[in-house]
Amino acid sequence: MARVRKGAGRPAPLRVLHVAAEWFPLVKTGGLADVVAALPAAQRAAGLDARLLLPAYPALRQALAGATEVARIGAAFGAARVALLRGTLPGSDVPTYLIDAPWLYDRPGNPYLGPDGQEWADTLQRFGLLGWTGAQLAAGGLDPDWAPAVVHAHDWHAALVPVYLAARGTAGTHARTVLTVHNLAYQGRFALERFGELGLPAWMAGPAGIEFHGTLRLLKGGLMFADRITTVSPTYAREILGPAEGHELDDVLRHRADRLTGIVNGIDDAVWNPAADPAIAAPYDATDLAGKAACKLALQRELGLAQVAGAPLLGVISRLTPQKGLDLLLSTLPQWLGAGGQVALVGSGDPALEHAWRAAAQAAPDAVGVRIGYDEALAHRVVAGSDLIGVPSRFEPCGLTQLYGLRYGSLPVVHRVGGLADTVVDADEEALREDRATGFAFAGASPEALARALRHALDGWHHPAAWKRVQRRAMAQDTSWRAPAARYAALYAEALAGP
Ligand code: ADP
Ligand code: GLC
Repeated sequence: MARVRKGAGRPAPLRVLHVAAEWFPLVKTGGLADVVAALPAAQRAAGLDARLLLPAYPALRQALAGATEVARIGAAFGAARVALLRGTLPGSDVPTYLIDAPWLYDRPGNPYLGPDGQEWADTLQRFGLLGWTGAQLAAGGLDPDWAPAVVHAHDWHAALVPVYLAARGTAGTHARTVLTVHNLAYQGRFALERFGELGLPAWMAGPAGIEFHGTLRLLKGGLMFADRITTVSPTYAREILGPAEGHELDDVLRHRADRLTGIVNGIDDAVWNPAADPAIAAPYDATDLAGKAACKLALQRELGLAQVAGAPLLGVISRLTPQKGLDLLLSTLPQWLGAGGQVALVGSGDPALEHAWRAAAQAAPDAVGVRIGYDEALAHRVVAGSDLIGVPSRFEPCGLTQLYGLRYGSLPVVHRVGGLADTVVDADEEALREDRATGFAFAGASPEALARALRHALDGWHHPAAWKRVQRRAMAQDTSWRAPAARYAALYAEALAGP
């Protein structure tokens, strides 16, 4: 594992600071939270000194154990009183810094939206302070006992870390920066007139800085100044270099293509483990799938579906946004149900999609079970109780639910894009012959292509011996964080050694 040598003495573990806006399980709107909780923990297990920097949202502030104040920052970004705390969060051994700024962070709602569903008016200050603090900590200016060698910023929320470090110029020695793009569609866009609130040098208000087409784009700034850029799968790393998936930033990314790589996420194999999952009806593993059948019956019962073991059950756990392609599934629903299939969906998001899915459940209550809302335990029961996990996303940087599906022997049905293409092997004839198949993949985001993949899955379902083989192959995949954590360590070493 990558270590930095200090003189001739004992090798000191590489110090890395993750900077992010979410943390599983306390502050989560999507897969980002899972990554931010699991990756630093996996890195510590591999011998790195990985730490975390997060805003002191109420749930985190209340949960922080052993909190000590490491720095009193004073007034910043409109907040009168800002301090940096260090402690640990429940169930985690990762030293965690929280930015205690009650004016900016001590409020209900999620990191981006208030309880009324509206964006916070001071989002720029909230993430300005996060980026600024990350840069200060990385420059050795906040914790007298610790500074990172690498600072790893996640998404646009933390994209100002490399920007503030660049604004300091080359004077001080400071950490190398890695920016991970979890989803290029979200860029942190603000009116250019607000540039003054960030306290950055004037030149950064131009194209060489964080300005983009007359607006501020925080992510673009991070892409300009990070030493290394990653995204969460190799295929997505290629896709975002073109206009279709580049979300206007493909040009910026092409200029930095030599610094861009893709590393597929892992999943927390303690949280997602069918052999020891407290949320599911019965434990099981690849050698004995009897528990899975019990999980399916329990899920059918819970959702009011017909309790038929022979009906293939397609599970979906998802944000309901256009990205996720669940409108395609709605369009193909009559065919799937007509062929005897069932659907279990837990999700929330766009009101129109929520409404349409509720209506689908009302129209066929014994075949379509829908729970609108966010329910972590139900997500586990859906993964364990389903035969298939549907991820028909139009684009998908990585995707986590297909990885849960693999681990739980619930075969993923995916659109062959981004991380879905990198993690699921379609059960075509060749893959079946070579015993490599792990699910069903389709090309092109159309209801027809999805319907074909579902027909293919249905064929497979009617061949139980072959189905079991694919299930076992899926469950044998290494979806843990071990390999990705090693890849990040190699990338840090490269960033420390190279330009
Ligand atoms: P994204 O981050 O784009 O939403 P991912 O697949 O990477 O997509 O991660 C989504 C995460 O959020 C997964 O852990 C998934 O189980 C979880 N999730 C999404 N919607 C719900 C929901 N309604 N209830 C429980 N968990 C959900
Ligand atoms: C984003 C992406 C998703 C990815 C997750 C974690 O939310 O949409 O594909 O799995 O981040 O990296």
